[in-house]
Amino acid sequence: MLQLKMLVLFFMVVSSVFRCSATADQRDFTDAFYYGVLPDSFTWGVSTAAYQIEGAWNEDGKSEHIWDRFCHEGGHVDRNHTGDVACDSYHKWRDDITILKELGVKHYRFSLSWSRIVPDPTTGVVNQAGVDFYLNLITAVKQAGIEPLVTLFHWDLPQILEDNGSWGNETIIQQYKHYADVAFSHFGHLVKYWLTFNEPWVVTWQGYGIGDYAPGIKQPATLPYLYAHNIIKCHAQAWHLYDTTYRARFNGMVSITLNTDFFAPKNSSKPEDVEAAERAAQFSVGWFAHPIYVDGDYPQVMKDYVQRNSNTIDGSSRLPKFTVSEKLFIKGTFDYFGLNHYSTSLCEPADAAYQASVPKGYLGDMEVKLTRDPKWRKAASSYLYYVPWGMRGILNFIRTHYNNTPVIVTENGVTDHNGTLHDSFRIDYLRSYMNELIKAVLIDKCNVIGYTVWSIMDNFEWARGYTEKFGLYYVDFDNPQRPRVAKQSAMFYKGVIADRGFPDPGIIG
Ligand code: BGC
Repeated sequence: MLQLKMLVLFFMVVSSVFRCSATADQRDFTDAFYYGVLPDSFTWGVSTAAYQIEGAWNEDGKSEHIWDRFCHEGGHVDRNHTGDVACDSYHKWRDDITILKELGVKHYRFSLSWSRIVPDPTTGVVNQAGVDFYLNLITAVKQAGIEPLVTLFHWDLPQILEDNGSWGNETIIQQYKHYADVAFSHFGHLVKYWLTFNEPWVVTWQGYGIGDYAPGIKQPATLPYLYAHNIIKCHAQAWHLYDTTYRARFNGMVSITLNTDFFAPKNSSKPEDVEAAERAAQFSVGWFAHPIYVDGDYPQVMKDYVQRNSNTIDGSSRLPKFTVSEKLFIKGTFDYFGLNHYSTSLCEPADAAYQASVPKGYLGDMEVKLTRDPKWRKAASSYLYYVPWGMRGILNFIRTHYNNTPVIVTENGVTDHNGTLHDSFRIDYLRSYMNELIKAVLIDKCNVIGYTVWSIMDNFEWARGYTEKFGLYYVDFDNPQRPRVAKQSAMFYKGVIADRGFPDPGIIG
């Protein structure tokens, strides 16, 4: 009898693995077009970030930050482009409001520059000119009937903090909390949606792991883990501060934005590929989402794999540990889920050759070989392959792993090199990604409450300078006036917003 029970149990386990693989491989989803509209409450928007659009890098008391330093050093950014002027939004923010109104968006996502507001976080002195700039902008956005969605930190760490030990120096946690406090107290009455950090994965991995982003440090085995640890603590501090001090008054929502590919098994009938896809996702989005949305701690698979690859003299893991009270403090520090999604990766267990080809540390610890299907269409950005079903896949991943928390897609978009006004490929990309999002909401019941295009206009694309363009509006960076000119995709998106999606032509009129 016992043996029979064991046999039944064995088959239940095996079949659940395969059921899992069927849902994990979202290539079962069809890319066929689906007509559907989203409720009125769904919010449609566009995004930018301070350094990518503002310019005025040294005006009105703003201090130097790590991207100013990185660009001015030379040798890091394509053609040594800088964000010194960018779209000049510091002076031309009224032009930005005009095009926001023209599009008919319901929200505008942008970031505050810490170095404008608190130029020297070691003293904490507030720069009134920086506060005034953002107060004028936020007030005008509200007056246009648009909700501001404000990111506190989009990669522009004040240089003084970098020089002070960066995210590894625990004093940064109180300094960040102070900055968040300044922002909440000055702008909280006008802002409904807050984000503490944009893409901590990029901050830690690209900034301190492989160093292709500011400040250009290459310590892939240790710094990403150490710095992520303190960033998560900063996030939790800001969320609690809002919760205890501001929520009752302002009733806003505070969260974090995580970037992630959809990770699909290379071969969905191979359980080891299915497992590799899950592991890659846990190392990517789970690294930050598991502590915040699940239990205050890193995913078990991440703890296991970093430990077994750590090779430290004393046997300790390179992944730091949270104390019991830290876990309790971090768990549940969210009001929604901010997601930046652009592309998809295929996963299988890493072989020795692949392990030898990646930097030892975070990527090697994961033990997953990540590839792209050569048949997928490519955008101008090297990482950006066009895989619409991945949008539906990642939204379902969030639904199943994070308790169907309300999601705002805070970035999605596509690049070219020349900023053509006839950007039919962008229309195609946005149309199919939005369509997969609509399927995720209407068919799969994913709790998605907003969508945001990156970006409203061409801007400074980090290490790629002005050579890769994401805008719905074209900006001529040789023209001192920086006029914003609508591309075809702007008018397309305006139509989607007005229609709330894609109404069935059989039903219209
Ligand atoms: C970032 C943006 C960036 C975009 C396109 C995201 O990683 O948040 O700042 O411009 O992707 O690469």
